[in-house]
Amino acid sequence: MQVSGSTALVTGGGRRIGRAIVLALAQAGASVAVHYNRSEQDAAETVEVAKSFGVQAKAFGADLADADQTTKLIDDVDSAIGRVNILVNNASAFSKTTLAETSLEEWESFMAINFTAPFLLAQAMHRALPEGEAGKVINLNDWRTARANRFTYGVSKAALSGLTRSLAVAMAPNVQVNELALGAILPPADSLDEPGQRVAKAAPAGRMGTLNEVSAAVISLIENDFITGETLHIDGGRHIR
Ligand SMILES: NC(=O)c1ccc[n+]([C@@H]2O[C@H](COP(=O)([O-])OP(=O)(O)OC[C@H]3O[C@@H](n4cnc5c(N)ncnc54)[C@H](OP(=O)(O)O)[C@@H]3O)[C@@H](O)[C@H]2O)c1
Repeated sequence: MQVSGSTALVTGGGRRIGRAIVLALAQAGASVAVHYNRSEQDAAETVEVAKSFGVQAKAFGADLADADQTTKLIDDVDSAIGRVNILVNNASAFSKTTLAETSLEEWESFMAINFTAPFLLAQAMHRALPEGEAGKVINLNDWRTARANRFTYGVSKAALSGLTRSLAVAMAPNVQVNELALGAILPPADSLDEPGQRVAKAAPAGRMGTLNEVSAAVISLIENDFITGETLHIDGGRHIR
């Protein structure tokens, strides 16, 4: 599959890792739908930078905890800039709450954003894509899912791994579905750098990853039609130590 001429939806694409993926896709010639929830300004700015690569780009707001808003997103992108054939499920909720601290509300919200939304978006894409047309789904996951670490976040991301493999079978043969299990790339927006640095030092690579190392992997997975149901770790080897 060629990136150029495709239409990509990147959830949470206005800032941080999502923004880097949007811009790499735009630079490679894809029309880009930049989804946001709270970061409307960042999304608008990312759209402007994407357009400078000569592609169509538009921002789309939706709360992915709301199933109706989520399902509508694919239709909205289809009618505004083109039929979605690349879906990057990047948006995510993150927390460090323990089992004892986890409320039912937090549990349901994490499952909705990190697990149900990728399912609903992939299903809507699958229904809209004409039979036989090529497509790609890439889910952003975490090396920690191998460790059952971080309770609610960890469970929702482990569920996303299962979804990745099930979608790879259900959307075959024309759509390939893979996930990137990231190590420390950017510290959480509200942290002071420490957690990311600690994870980075524990990795064989001994450093944090770069945004370019993530977006290059996205492009490479889109261009390869024989990799599906795979978890590609971009974590400097953290999961094996
Ligand atoms: N950062 C890392 O080093 C790292 C490490 C391991 C895995 N990952 C994975 O890589 C991906 C990107 O990481 P990141 O650190 O860039 O993510 P992030 O900043 O924590 O979150 C990305 C976006 O998710 C969106 N989001 C959160 N709740 C939402 C909701 N209810 N509805 C719609 N959108 C919502 C937010 O969009 P708005 O800002 O528009 O509200 C946010 O900007 C995530 O899936 C994460 O789990 C990242």
